[in-house]
Amino acid sequence: QTLLLLDNHGRKINYLRLAVTDRCNLRCFYCMPEEGLNWLARTELMTYEEMLQCCALLVKMGIEKIRITGGEPFVRKDLMKLLRALSKLDGLKELTLTTNGILTAPHVAELKRIGVRSVNLSLDTLDANRFFAITRRDEFAAVMATMQQLLKHDMEVKINTVVMAGKNIQDIIPLVELTKELPVSVRFIEEMPFNGDGHNYSGMVWDYVRILDEIRQAFPQIQKIADAQYSTSYNYQIPGHQGGVGIIAAYSRTFCGTCNRIRITPQGTLKNCLYDNGVLNIKDLMRSGMQATGLEQTLRLAFNTRQKDGWQAESNRMQHPNVHESMATIGG
Ligand code: GTP
Ligand code: 5AD
Ligand code: SF4
Repeated sequence: QTLLLLDNHGRKINYLRLAVTDRCNLRCFYCMPEEGLNWLARTELMTYEEMLQCCALLVKMGIEKIRITGGEPFVRKDLMKLLRALSKLDGLKELTLTTNGILTAPHVAELKRIGVRSVNLSLDTLDANRFFAITRRDEFAAVMATMQQLLKHDMEVKINTVVMAGKNIQDIIPLVELTKELPVSVRFIEEMPFNGDGHNYSGMVWDYVRILDEIRQAFPQIQKIADAQYSTSYNYQIPGHQGGVGIIAAYSRTFCGTCNRIRITPQGTLKNCLYDNGVLNIKDLMRSGMQATGLEQTLRLAFNTRQKDGWQAESNRMQHPNVHESMATIGG
């Protein structure tokens, strides 16, 4: 039977974004400073056992899709152990992950074997020098190796490209060209002010309209295609190309009306919204001895306090931007 988990605004909740670590082996400047973040101590992280118990409960309650995020998920030791266990959860329809691809290539075959069908790969440029300028690490080749492995194993690949004035504008067209021969979906993302230290966010210069204009100039034949339900991206295709092009208006557009997702941060905080500060800490509840029934009740209460439009609240707050949070501590 299909379980239906609804929030206080009648929205279906069926998608969990589970961040397994705040750590990362890159230092993308739009995400964290060179020195990294104030990493969580190991005891502050949810253990795999805790994650598994929690996910089992959430799947029982109606979650159908789990996306593993971070930080970089593969920086956490034995990630495959968690994925193997999650892949066996009865009722889970989709298990997937968002990764930067540095450590991913050797695991692709097993990901495929346990039923992962799609992977989102973060890649902001096709140029090794610019890759270094953006991520502060010389790891471009590793990401490309992961992309090859994913394609070789017939995985659905979505490339996430954050569009940044002065950094990778010259990559937009080459990335679109990649879709000619490769069955990948390249998604251009508006830069959001979650850069870990609050400085150097100069405001979003490239919003989705401007990104689309740029692509249209080079590919006037580009066509709008249907967007899947709950899709974060507006999707397009260039006739004759194998892959697709998407634009994620992460900052200028609200997803709130149909928001189907909840988040759990590496330290076990449940977030009803990308922009809230967390409603409760699942790990703390578990460690205080709360059992599954108690936890289920507590979660249901929490899902009844979801904001109708967190984006609007945030854009009011953004009149005075003071964002020190990093994507890596939220899980994207
Ligand atoms: P799909 O399952 O493939 O649709 O993945 P996704 O787009 O939900 O996830 P992914 O981890 O690839 O994230 C792509 C971009 O979308 C990142 O920049 C995320 O921060 C952003 N994003 C994801 N969820 C939300 C959301 O609820 N609101 C906003 N504004 N941005 C989001
Ligand atoms: N703005 C937009 N997207 C971001 N990501 C990380 N930080 C930001 C930001 N400040 C993206 C990464 C990754 C996804 C999970 O979030 O590129 O693909
Ligand atoms: Fe790491 Fe992703 Fe943040 Fe880049 S954006 S530093 S890859 S967590």
